[in-house]
Amino acid sequence: MDESITPRRFAETLAHDIPKHWLPGNEVVSSLLNAYTVLVPANEAFYIRTLNACLPRITDPALRKRCHAFIRQEAQHGVAHKRYWGNLDAQGYSYRGFERLVDRAIFKTMDRWAPLWLRASLVSCVEHINAYLGYEFLSQAILDGADPRVRSLMEWHFAEEIEHRAVAFDLLQAVSPGYPVRLAGAATTATLFYLLMTGLAVALLVQDGVLWRKDTFRQAAAHLGSTHHMARRTIGHLWNYLRPGFHPSQLGGDGLAADVLARQAAAHPPIVVAMAAQAE
Ligand SMILES: [Fe+2]
Ligand SMILES: [Fe+2]
Repeated sequence: MDESITPRRFAETLAHDIPKHWLPGNEVVSSLLNAYTVLVPANEAFYIRTLNACLPRITDPALRKRCHAFIRQEAQHGVAHKRYWGNLDAQGYSYRGFERLVDRAIFKTMDRWAPLWLRASLVSCVEHINAYLGYEFLSQAILDGADPRVRSLMEWHFAEEIEHRAVAFDLLQAVSPGYPVRLAGAATTATLFYLLMTGLAVALLVQDGVLWRKDTFRQAAAHLGSTHHMARRTIGHLWNYLRPGFHPSQLGGDGLAADVLARQAAAHPPIVVAMAAQAE
């Protein structure tokens, strides 16, 4: 499934003429993914620190190789999403203080105080969340009609999340395979992820002055229910993660991811560029 994970650089220019709400007619989904963009770099830096801390315990050369490729992909996601912060700044959003607070109060605190088994379990669960978000956004073509540059950023990231979705889970099985460990990580991660992302998306909608509108509630209801079914589908994906026989490969989506990445690499100029292999 992910035997060959290819690190890629996101080469698209994210010019400042990208509209604030880059998915026309859907301020809710634009704001949710803007919140995702803000939270990604600190999140992914935490995954990288956690994997680096686990690596000395990993002897299987194939898993080590997959971990190194995972780290390189996540590092590039952080770089590309942070580039987009320049657009959020130009649009007048205030979010940097919140981002710093989250990084310090949650991720850096976890580094210091949470045992490695819990950190590995958090990363395993959040990687499942990243992968099923990617799967839902790509399989339902939710970003059709979006500004092509932001759509490319999100779809590249989602495709790579699908590509490397099993690495953190397999790493957790290698360092701490107990079921209670998986449960503890899942409960913490799902709560934190949805609180932070929804909280920040709401704050962005408040800054736009569009939170208390009929249209916003209609868009949220369509995203969660009638159109994208994200409430039901999220519960289903989280429930799957709790099944004792779960493995990320069961999610599927490899073809969807491969299509996105091949199309982006073949574009003129290319949207993503494969990076050279690196010695361990
Ligand atoms: Fe990522
Ligand atoms: Fe990831």
